[in-house]
Amino acid sequence: MIIAIDGPAGAGKSTIAKLIAKKINCTYINTGAMYRAVAYFLLKEEKSIESLKESELQALLAEINIQFKDERTILNGEDITEKIRTEEVARLASTVAKNPLVRERLTHLQRQIAKKEECVVMEGRDIGTVVFPNADVKIFLTASPEERARRRYEELVAKGQNVSYEEILQQIKKRDKQDTEREIAPLKPTEDYTIIDTTNKTIEEIADNIIKIVKSKLS
Ligand code: DC
Repeated sequence: MIIAIDGPAGAGKSTIAKLIAKKINCTYINTGAMYRAVAYFLLKEEKSIESLKESELQALLAEINIQFKDERTILNGEDITEKIRTEEVARLASTVAKNPLVRERLTHLQRQIAKKEECVVMEGRDIGTVVFPNADVKIFLTASPEERARRRYEELVAKGQNVSYEEILQQIKKRDKQDTEREIAPLKPTEDYTIIDTTNKTIEEIADNIIKIVKSKLS
């Protein structure tokens, strides 16, 4: 069974998808971490995606091996879980995510990962539209940009990062624009999605609501 959870940054996808996976005993896959992993890899190699020829990018992508182990993200053997949570990586990930070769490679990897599992909760931007158009359940989580910026701000402050709310809000709006207006796999729900606004709702409430939808699909 495939449960697709899509939506913009800060809508609560990770927290909710993780909780659902735990409650119904499914494997949780965060595809945003895969785009971040590619961004991190390019940063580390000191390569800018714009300056690479198609063949060069393809060769680099072939070197990338991403695995998930106990909620850790492993890139070519290196645990990058925390390293990809910076604003720098987030910004670059949004740029990297516009590239068709990157999307093709990661979509392929996502399908391969899911093939090995009986039940997967996969979160991202295009899971129910491109990666698994036949997903059993498709959920689109959303919240206002201000609410999402507030959540991201609190998350980063809790991690000890020195950030400004205004800057985060601007970055979220910029990333939303980039993610929704890109030519390939733009962030946009089709009519078969259940859209849930997470503003003023508790995580438990939303997770239980989604689990109800999953159960109704199964029966
Ligand atoms: O969810 P996130 O913020 O960690 O995602 C990082 C970037 O990757 C974000 O700009 C959107 C992009 N992304 C995507 O294009 N498709 C996905 N399935 C997941 C993420």
